[in-house]
Amino acid sequence: MPVRSRAQETKAKKSARPARAASRRRTCLAIVLAAGEGKRMRSALPKVLAPIAGLPMIAHVMAAVREGGADRVAVVVGPRREDVASAVRAAFPAVEIFEQSERLGTAHAVLMARKALEKGSQDVLVAFGDTPLIDPWTLKRMRARLAKGADCVVLGFEARDARGYGRLIQQEGELIAIREERDASREERRIRLCNGGLMGFSGRAALPIIERISDNNAQREFYLTDAVEIARDLGLETEIVIGDEDDVMGVNDRAQLAAAEALMQERLRSIAMLGGATLLAPNTVFLSHDTRLEQDVVVEPNVVFGKSVRVREGARIRAFSYLEGVEVGAKAIIGPFARLRPGTLIGAEAHIGNFVEVKNSWVGYRAKANHLAYVGDASVGPGANIGAGAITCNYDGFEKHRTEIGAEAFIGTNSSLVAPVRIGKGAYVASGSVVTREVPPDALALGRARQAVKPGWAKAFRERKRAGNIVSKSAGRREKNPAQ
Ligand code: UD1
Ligand code: MG
Repeated sequence: MPVRSRAQETKAKKSARPARAASRRRTCLAIVLAAGEGKRMRSALPKVLAPIAGLPMIAHVMAAVREGGADRVAVVVGPRREDVASAVRAAFPAVEIFEQSERLGTAHAVLMARKALEKGSQDVLVAFGDTPLIDPWTLKRMRARLAKGADCVVLGFEARDARGYGRLIQQEGELIAIREERDASREERRIRLCNGGLMGFSGRAALPIIERISDNNAQREFYLTDAVEIARDLGLETEIVIGDEDDVMGVNDRAQLAAAEALMQERLRSIAMLGGATLLAPNTVFLSHDTRLEQDVVVEPNVVFGKSVRVREGARIRAFSYLEGVEVGAKAIIGPFARLRPGTLIGAEAHIGNFVEVKNSWVGYRAKANHLAYVGDASVGPGANIGAGAITCNYDGFEKHRTEIGAEAFIGTNSSLVAPVRIGKGAYVASGSVVTREVPPDALALGRARQAVKPGWAKAFRERKRAGNIVSKSAGRREKNPAQ
């Protein structure tokens, strides 16, 4: 079947609904290849575990194939890669894991998952663990072609720079081969339509095709891409689905990792904005794959969201704040320069201001900590006020202890609350207090040295000092005042 242009693709998109519905009912095995060494990353971490938007690359691929309709996922990992295997299990517990002990090529890697293939499924997708931006919609389009009778579907893209990619060779509009660059003729190298790396097979044809692949090429590797020529020899139907270059971007080094991160961030920002959040300077806001910003949330410039953050309706995250593992209540105001750490729940309309750090704490409705405070392992009742410089002393070097602050309590500036300790509802803690015992509701706690005033002392002190200095200067030496 002929290759479709992008315009035809869009048309196909509109009419693909019935096929999509059909593909949703079809069983689908996805095989994700992740046995590459990733040497160019120069990292102790296996390449496929490098995070993008806080999630290992391979987990993005697994999420995409799952969303694309794969009901089974097999991952091929390198020898003794328990770390990859456990990250993969965390992303999808039912995953089947296979080991490729020798790196003999992409087709060889697929065959490592033979047991998964032999269980049978109507569609088989092969994806690469280092291609984290693949789009579930593209996978669905590929499956729709399988549903219509194709046996081998290749994801193609028009490369801005085709170097390094396999080229899609067509004859009379039909895909007849994929030629790896190393094996391509000069003429073939001029082709810009490239192999994006994703392939789809009909379940019945997958094994018979892949088993026939040999290593008769420049690299002496078993190329999965040879599947196209073999499918043609067997009289099977091959097809190209056109995708976006950005979606098939492979990550081989740190520069490409940064480029993939940038693309992923762009996607996440537009999802957030389409969902009703305002990002005043989108390019300066960094999101995690799981950041949830509700409607009418406003995010000012230079805010970083770590993992697991949810911001409720109408809250405002002011500039230069860093949030991780927290839920921010509706209409709360956070920052500027606030740090919210994991385990934190900020109530509706609460205010957390500049240079305030909150960790593993609950801060109630309309409670405030506006400047320079540390609230750790605490609960802060509704309407309570934490003054500047107030600190919960939650750690004794061995264990963490809790501080409980009642509703409407007032914690004066620069006080230290030595946990475990409880401040009752409506109580006052005087500024500069060190609180080590429970403060009952509505009481005042004073835990500081009593102030003494010595009239005239400063003046007398200065005079003494000055007299002493003049003596030593006139002696031509700068020596310590013996009065000190
Ligand atoms: C591959 C394609 C090429 C395509 C390009 C798109 C082949 C032969 N070539 O080339 O046509 O344009 O991707 O990015 O498929 N892997 C294993 N075991 C192996 C070899 C590879 O698991 O023995 C895994 C790698 O970890 C990687 C993926 O397969 O995730 C692709 O391998 P890679 O070496 O990157 O192939 P490319 O040369 O990029
Ligand atoms: Mg590659």
